[in-house]
Amino acid sequence: MATVLDSVRAFFAQAVFTIDQENAGDIVARERLLDRVMGEARFRKSSEKIRRGRLPAEGLALVARDPHGHVIGTVRLWNIEAGVDADGNAVSALLLGPLAVDCAHEGKGIGGALMRAALTEARDLGHGAVLLVGDPEYYERFGFFADKAQHLVMPGPFERRRFLALELREGWLSGAAGVLVASGRRLVSDQRKAA
Ligand SMILES: CC(C)(COP(=O)(O)OP(=O)(O)OC[C@H]1O[C@@H](n2cnc3c(N)ncnc32)[C@H](O)[C@@H]1OP(=O)(O)O)[C@@H](O)C(=O)NCCC(=O)NCCS
Repeated sequence: MATVLDSVRAFFAQAVFTIDQENAGDIVARERLLDRVMGEARFRKSSEKIRRGRLPAEGLALVARDPHGHVIGTVRLWNIEAGVDADGNAVSALLLGPLAVDCAHEGKGIGGALMRAALTEARDLGHGAVLLVGDPEYYERFGFFADKAQHLVMPGPFERRRFLALELREGWLSGAAGVLVASGRRLVSDQRKAA
């Protein structure tokens, strides 16, 4: 009986995870996770041009933790200008990514939980829209579609079918056209370089 109980406990212990704000102590574990899941190719993505030298949007760097507190998933969102509207005014929005879950924990709903937590937080913080580059087969379930981003372009090579957007406020991206530009807070080291 004890053995059965132990295996039941082990099953549920594995299934439990929490979603949390990322803190400074998570950075090394997050980078190691991204290296394992995505490899060096992640630094060559067009999204990286927007992320490089910037901090994520306030309150929008989340991690998933196992019961021991270890980082097993990550998602971050970044402030951008998504082109300009019909009057020529910059359209503020967010770029999501990378989203990654430790291979040992895939398929347990962690990616979905990170996505839903990040989108709820972004909506609560008053953001109007989120863009990303990713597989529509995965992201459509969260409401991301290519048509909302049809007049926008990434600042580098990208696949049009994988360039997706979600409006958190209806009509936010109506008429938005142009190139995505980073608009987030700069990393301190980059501020020093610019000074
Ligand atoms: C994509 C990723 C974040 C999903 O995390 P996860 O915790 O396994 O996701 P969930 O448990 O919430 O959802 C799993 C479901 O998504 C599906 N799925 C995962 N990746 C998918 C993809 N690229 N296309 C379509 N479906 C996908 C799984 O087949 C599974 O489907 P099911 O529920 O019908 O069985 C994770 O697989 C990962 O880190 N992949 C490598 C990095 C990556 O590709 N990031 C996204 C950039 S496109």
